[in-house]
Amino acid sequence: MPHNARADFSALPHAADLAASTPHDELFARILDPVSRPDPYPLYAALRRRPVSRQADGTWVVSGYDEIAALLHDPRLSSDMANAGQTTVRDADKSLILRDPPSHDHLRSAVMAQFTPAVVESLRAQVRALTDRLIDAIGSRTRFDLVEEIAYPLPVSVICTLLGVPPEDETRFHGWADTLARSLDLDPTMTQEEAAAVDRAFTELHAYLKELITRRAERPGNDLISALLGDGSHTDPLRGDELVITTRLLLIAGHETTVNLITNGMLTLLRRPGILARFRAEPELVIPMVEELVRYEPSVQFRYRAALADIEIGGTTIPRGSSVVLLLAAGSRDPKHFTEPERFVPDRIPNEHFGFGGGIHYCIGAPLARMEAQIVLPELVRRLRAPRLTADPPPYRPTAALRGPKHLLLEIDGIRP
Ligand code: HEM
Repeated sequence: MPHNARADFSALPHAADLAASTPHDELFARILDPVSRPDPYPLYAALRRRPVSRQADGTWVVSGYDEIAALLHDPRLSSDMANAGQTTVRDADKSLILRDPPSHDHLRSAVMAQFTPAVVESLRAQVRALTDRLIDAIGSRTRFDLVEEIAYPLPVSVICTLLGVPPEDETRFHGWADTLARSLDLDPTMTQEEAAAVDRAFTELHAYLKELITRRAERPGNDLISALLGDGSHTDPLRGDELVITTRLLLIAGHETTVNLITNGMLTLLRRPGILARFRAEPELVIPMVEELVRYEPSVQFRYRAALADIEIGGTTIPRGSSVVLLLAAGSRDPKHFTEPERFVPDRIPNEHFGFGGGIHYCIGAPLARMEAQIVLPELVRRLRAPRLTADPPPYRPTAALRGPKHLLLEIDGIRP
């Protein structure tokens, strides 16, 4: 494939044709269709022709950079979808990502006070050691699945350390994390047994976290749960279910997203041998390159909001009570804001993308996710001999909002020490 070329999607319904033949108000339905997963970007470009548009199902989709930026900072948009008539999550179970001020701000500031840059930095050595171990485990094999063997186990182990899950409980924790991450797929083919397994994982994880919190309250350790419980020196520590729901959010929000960043990262590089070679020669490129990955192939493609009032934007009015989709991934490729947005430019600076959101819900784990990707990607590139994709595009998970490959089978000539 030529340097920085697009992948060969010729085996699929052609994404650009699909975008051209779809009526504007059905574009979002097309995006949700799993067939669009390998390349939704032509559909986003088609949507951006009307940056704020009502879709046939009544949802409002916002796809322009300026409009998304404005709405991310607009208090008339709520993260609690009950305000658009959707009541899938009980109020008591809503974590801070689904809350508005003031309760959002209370929970967020408690987490921010403890999940500091120093805490992220303290995890660096573990991320390095784990990366080494996972790559070593490939051994003499010449084929492996990057998702199952590296991208999945790494973030969940890191979160275990962060939360203070004792090493002997890690395996159980991995099991719950995997089941819950997979439940985010909203896969229509999910069987009753699989759905029951998800319910069970939720209940067991809840009970486990409750018990862990009790243990930490009695005997604090050097971990985030102990820190969030407080040492009596701050006035507003988290209590009871608040703490269970917040720690569960950290697990769920930080797991699958980081898996996808690592996997999308390798996929993007392997499609571009010229950039891969340049990265091998200039590992310091990793900092702007990870940022570009988060812009170009974001794990989180869109987020839902509810309109609390009539909102005039982009020459139209979103009515109060509407369900609004902020199509972050479309904004991050808006040509009004980025030069050559459809091109992967590893040293793109400035790069003010929406990959980690924006406004009051801006991703709390962004520094940790960046650090993990900045360690694992250069190591993979350095240690894998002649890595090749076995399928392009790879199979994707069905979910459109959290987009990433289900497997990324690679062929290699071996690993370097
Ligand atoms: C590549 C990895 C990641 C990506 C792409 C990502 C992306 C995002 C995005 C787009 C949001 C905004 C949601 C919204 O506006 O509704 C968000 C929020 C959040 N993220 Fe991440 N995230 C990643 C990793 C992590 C990690 C590792 C953690 C924690 C360990 C984490 C914790 C959170 C939390 C707690 C929120 C909610 C913040 C709030 O509502 O105030 N994320 N993330």
